[in-house]
Amino acid sequence: MTAERSAPVFELRDGSVRYGTGSVEAVSQVSVQLHRGEILGLVGESGCGKSTTARAMLGLVPLSGGTLLLHGEPVRRHDRRLRRSVQAIFQNPAASFNPKRSLLDSVAEPLRVHGHGTPAERRRRALAELDRVGITEQLAHRRPREVSGGQCQRAAIARATILRPEILVCDEPVSALDVSIQAQILELLAELRAEQGLAMLFISHDLGVVASLCDRTAVMYAGRVVEQGGALDIAHDPRHPYSVMLQDSVPSLDLAAARAPRVQPTPGAEDVDGRQLAGCRFATLCPSVTTACTTSSPPLRQIAPRHEVACVHPFPSTTPRVAAQPSNTV
Ligand SMILES: Nc1ncnc2c1ncn2[C@@H]1O[C@H](COP(=O)(O)OP(=O)(O)OP(=O)(O)O)[C@@H](O)[C@H]1O
Ligand code: SF4
Ligand SMILES: [Mg+2]
Repeated sequence: MTAERSAPVFELRDGSVRYGTGSVEAVSQVSVQLHRGEILGLVGESGCGKSTTARAMLGLVPLSGGTLLLHGEPVRRHDRRLRRSVQAIFQNPAASFNPKRSLLDSVAEPLRVHGHGTPAERRRRALAELDRVGITEQLAHRRPREVSGGQCQRAAIARATILRPEILVCDEPVSALDVSIQAQILELLAELRAEQGLAMLFISHDLGVVASLCDRTAVMYAGRVVEQGGALDIAHDPRHPYSVMLQDSVPSLDLAAARAPRVQPTPGAEDVDGRQLAGCRFATLCPSVTTACTTSSPPLRQIAPRHEVACVHPFPSTTPRVAAQPSNTV
């Protein structure tokens, strides 16, 4: 889509984060590009570094390596342009609101901090913003504990968008909500993207949600992006062995049957099984591992238009338009 041909609005380039004095990087050389009007999904198992990537992009944790670029210009994490342009939505909105203040006061707060308008004008704008996300004036006067989780998340979205940021970082924004409420919040995010041309990073455990909402998907494993491409390509034709496992563990996508014959243990897997490897971090679990995977960490490389994989032996495509690979290639 056209959004992808333009220069990225916001980018994390080769970003690494180390917590405390530990020698292990929670994320390692992760590159994420966000284009105007585009939603990038970020998926991967618990602890793989999704929230750390989000925090790095919000300037909440320092980078031990790499660069943040806003409109192609490097920005430091305390830069005011970053705080102004990039806003966040988290899993538990109530935790980020002051429990003693009304939703209205909290949503108007960014306007006050940035010196916009009179108190009456700020109040009017906050009410309009709340109305836009489906919060009535009556609800706006309540405190966070006096509304539902979905209503609180709507108010959090109003607060995040009231200064018209260009970028929204959403870390599991619907994971704590009922399925029916999830759908409403996802619809709201999609509307905001369309209306305001927002670029979004959308973190989720739910691959079905990511496939339906996002334009592109990046799959993380052990602190690295191991595959990225069009959201439908990643959902229906994953090529990295970890992405295949991740998709196969989601029965709702019903892809397991189509994929079963592709996983073929390779001679040499036992040589490295159970050992800490210098090479690919997925090697100890990978059914396709060979000794070639253990020498160095495979970088992302393009294997199809708009589709990159960090793997020595990516699976062949299952997409019919790409010539089917013979299965006797072991
Ligand atoms: N404040 C912290 N101090 C030390 N280590 C941390 C801290 N926050 C996260 N980590 C570690 O960094 C790694 C990545 O954590 P992160 O929270 O980014 O994962 P995640 O993909 O968001 O997981 P989840 O899906 O459970 O939210 C994990 O090994 C985690 O234990
Ligand atoms: S590089 Fe090797 S071990 Fe790593 S995912 Fe690919 S095939 Fe498996
Ligand atoms: Mg997380």
